[in-house]
Amino acid sequence: MNQILRQHAEQSFAEELDALKQSDNRQRPPNWAMSPWAVATYLLGGRLDNGFEVSPKYIGSRRLIETAIATLTTDRALLLFGVPGTAKSWVSEHLAAAVCGDSTLLIQGTAGTSEEQLRYGWNYAELLSKGPSTQALVQSPLMRAMEQGKIARVEELTRIPADVQDTLITLLSEKSLPVPELGTEIQAVRGFNAIATANNRDKGINELSSALKRRFNTVVLPLPSSADEEVAIVSKRVAELGRALDLPAEPPALKEVQRVVRIFRELRNGQTEDGKTKLKAPSATLSTAEAISVINNGVALAAHFGDGVMRAGDIASSLIGAIVKDPVQDALVWREYQETVIKERGDWKDLYRACRDHD
Ligand SMILES: Nc1ncnc2c1ncn2[C@@H]1O[C@H](COP(=O)(O)OP(=O)(O)O)[C@@H](O)[C@H]1O
Ligand SMILES: [Mg+2]
Repeated sequence: MNQILRQHAEQSFAEELDALKQSDNRQRPPNWAMSPWAVATYLLGGRLDNGFEVSPKYIGSRRLIETAIATLTTDRALLLFGVPGTAKSWVSEHLAAAVCGDSTLLIQGTAGTSEEQLRYGWNYAELLSKGPSTQALVQSPLMRAMEQGKIARVEELTRIPADVQDTLITLLSEKSLPVPELGTEIQAVRGFNAIATANNRDKGINELSSALKRRFNTVVLPLPSSADEEVAIVSKRVAELGRALDLPAEPPALKEVQRVVRIFRELRNGQTEDGKTKLKAPSATLSTAEAISVINNGVALAAHFGDGVMRAGDIASSLIGAIVKDPVQDALVWREYQETVIKERGDWKDLYRACRDHD
């Protein structure tokens, strides 16, 4: 049994990536591990000529994924934009894994991200003993991506302070990174590009400057377009997570997944599915990613403290936890939903009782 808690995409899907590379006879952009078509098949799933099944990673618009991949073949970088939980990080990781076989050249953007983290830093012991030298230079993931002709990833770009973000402008337009201390520069090798992600719901975000925006092609990842699509995403990810975590439980019943997705969508949309009842909206985003974690928690409860079959009682507490973020406002929203919607649905009595137990 593999002991790594979470493998990188290129590790967990090594077999699929190999199969794609082998059957791929389309033209590859310089230094790409496979053709854009094969990258799209890796992301969206499909059957190869030899019958090999590639599993879908992203469920949603094909055109959107094609646009993202096409961008990476141009001189513009890719910005994946959207509300939390719309698979921005997930798509970024899988794109990097397919295009260059390496999703690890990653910078996590925070308010504390410094220019050094984007460019390079120094190993001070080396620097003091021998002076500035290549050995003393600590390369950033971006610098390594440039040198190796790979994809660099910047997560949560808009959390990075604006002046630090601007470091990226020269780097992405000139495709070079000067190292004045050594009187040299790193010139990006073909195949280099960057994928950034940004959230449009972040508090205190730093807007992208228009100069930086021009270096990116923005692709907006939407929330799932229908309940069925969202149920498919949640069921698939919960099954995969359950396997990865070795949970001794059955995959959740479709009807439980449908119920959680329905609750999320109704609260998100501010009305019931039939449009008859208006609802107050909670402060939480209620993303697909949160629906996945509610069900996943339910499966873990059922596995370890139940009989291995997830029921209403196993999801109630994490459901309430996902919805009630603000103890006053959201509690009212939830109370209203519980009493006007859940209680009234004939086949939801079990859920109503389980939720009441938490009052
Ligand atoms: N359309 C989708 N297709 C496949 N998985 C999705 C989709 N939307 C959300 N997910 C799942 O949601 C989870 C969280 O996504 P993540 O990439 O962390 O979101 P973000 O970075 O946008 O906040 C991932 O496990 C991902 O598989
Ligand atoms: Mg993310």
